[in-house]
Amino acid sequence: MKSADVRRKYIEFFVKRGHKEIPSAALVPENDPTTLFNSSGMQPLIPYLLGEEHPEGKRLVNSQKGVRMQDIDEVGDNRHTIFFEMLGNWSLGDYFKKEQLPWIFEFVTRELGLDPRRLYVTVFAGNNSVPKDTESIKVWQEIFSNVGIEAEENERIFAYPAAKNWWSRAGEPDKMPPGEPGGPDSEMFYDFGEQLHLHEHSPWKDETCHPNCDCGRYMEICNSVFMQFVKQADGTLKELSQKNVDFGGGLERLTAASNDNPDVFTTDLFSSIIRIIEGLSKKNYTDEPKTTRAMRIVADHIKCSVMMLADGVLPSNKLQGYVLRRLVRRALLHGRSLGLAGDWKYVGQLVTPVAQIYEDAYPEVVTKAQEIKLLLEEEAYRFGKSLEKGLKKIEKIEKLDGTQAFKLYESFGFPWEMTEEIARSRGQVVEKGEFAKAFKTHQDKSRTAARGMFKGGLADHSEEVVKLHTATHLLHQALRIILGNHVQQKGSNITAERLRFDFSHPSKLSEEEIKKIENLINEQIKKDLPVSFKITTYTDAIKDGALAFFGERYPEKVKVYSVGNPSASSGSRNSVFSREICGGPHVEHTGILGRFKIMKEEALGAGTRRIYATVSKTP
Ligand code: ALA
Repeated sequence: MKSADVRRKYIEFFVKRGHKEIPSAALVPENDPTTLFNSSGMQPLIPYLLGEEHPEGKRLVNSQKGVRMQDIDEVGDNRHTIFFEMLGNWSLGDYFKKEQLPWIFEFVTRELGLDPRRLYVTVFAGNNSVPKDTESIKVWQEIFSNVGIEAEENERIFAYPAAKNWWSRAGEPDKMPPGEPGGPDSEMFYDFGEQLHLHEHSPWKDETCHPNCDCGRYMEICNSVFMQFVKQADGTLKELSQKNVDFGGGLERLTAASNDNPDVFTTDLFSSIIRIIEGLSKKNYTDEPKTTRAMRIVADHIKCSVMMLADGVLPSNKLQGYVLRRLVRRALLHGRSLGLAGDWKYVGQLVTPVAQIYEDAYPEVVTKAQEIKLLLEEEAYRFGKSLEKGLKKIEKIEKLDGTQAFKLYESFGFPWEMTEEIARSRGQVVEKGEFAKAFKTHQDKSRTAARGMFKGGLADHSEEVVKLHTATHLLHQALRIILGNHVQQKGSNITAERLRFDFSHPSKLSEEEIKKIENLINEQIKKDLPVSFKITTYTDAIKDGALAFFGERYPEKVKVYSVGNPSASSGSRNSVFSREICGGPHVEHTGILGRFKIMKEEALGAGTRRIYATVSKTP
């Protein structure tokens, strides 16, 4: 089956069951500083899972693009990719287990044609605060019995602890930060045959196989999360006011399963990219495991880079830009092992197949293909040259030690294996000890930074973040009043300490302009304007003068937040100051914001400015 058919069938299946289709959000989350990239379908929906009203109702469906950097070490096997697409359906306090599980079973068996006898499921085994999910076990037993399969526990249905069958963005309950929603889940696995467990090179062949066995026999194809808890500041879990379903199915894996082939790189989501790599390297994908692995890494990393560039990420040494840079470099190093070196710009040739794969789902990749190709080629060329310099340097080093090996990793991105292989070809042995020590310090540092990323933010609806979110609306409107209507939002990011707002404007702001903007905002705060929302169509919202983030795709129905009283006549003291399309949440009255202050204004790129601002802690 083609991936486009899987995607379309899924959306249609859930639309028929009362769901509204919503567009995929961009890869870089808006207004959410907790993570660098959207890494699951639920991420853009967090406010609604926590109880905000969604403009499209309580049943939603979509296909969301995502990036999971945590899987980087596994890319190269048959089923892990950094960029992926997740088919998702959500119940926001509407249906629950007894609707969700039969629907998913019906979808994969009837629409995708998967053999029910090859399906295995897992549920949550319980812990000291949440009981075992016996309800899902009962529902699954009935589903299987309807197709003539007796589903016994430990044979067809398996219960696992939180490490496997609890889902939140942060993992199991202990790791969830306050404010994070999560819950027990039920995963579905497809059996690709016992030969995968028993083959002569399988390290697991003497152990009993089960759905979560590492042999690769069973592939997880989808997951229904029963998102009904939120973590509290005191470390306990509280039941949410609504019981949600958050379903995610990897498009790559579902397509692979529908083709009865456990290798996602053989689906039409990758095959055209692999063909080009084969042509360039004059090697076959199936030549030997080393070649297969390298081709998968190049294909995945470059595809992911193209999708990031299409969503406006630029290579840099910070945040998203750094991740993009790392992926391009890693792809080039693995490409080098396929003999692809010298003309580093070859990666540009992979842009067209990626654009073609996604031309219907993400047409922006096609529109921007030429620009993406140039950016990718430039980045590849620069790294290629630096790599060549690094290699020359190595040749001059008499005896390579672990510290030098780490420096090569830091400055040129040389992975340990490559340095070792260079050294080995010259008859040297490099001690890994020093390298490993320096590498660990480096890793700990980035882990600490990553933890920081996951703290606070809109996800926890903390008071500071909500205040700054409303302040962002005031700023957006004030910029347009003071600087002109050419001002458009280019990005926004909020932490508990400050807001950051990127917008189009050709020149540096003068001190006078900054003062005027601050004064205008502080006037609105003093008036203690009410903040409210209404649900309307996107077209009517725009006609009504609501501001929107033009980089974002919106569903048909949207929420429009107004600061000011919508029924007050224009020109009166508390008439509407700002109208903006937004999911919320916001404060109820502007008075609570205290005083607004711009801390910094700077250039971000040609024609784009960035403002950092904050509000006082007390009103
Ligand atoms: N949010 C769940 C996941 O990403 C469905 O697996």
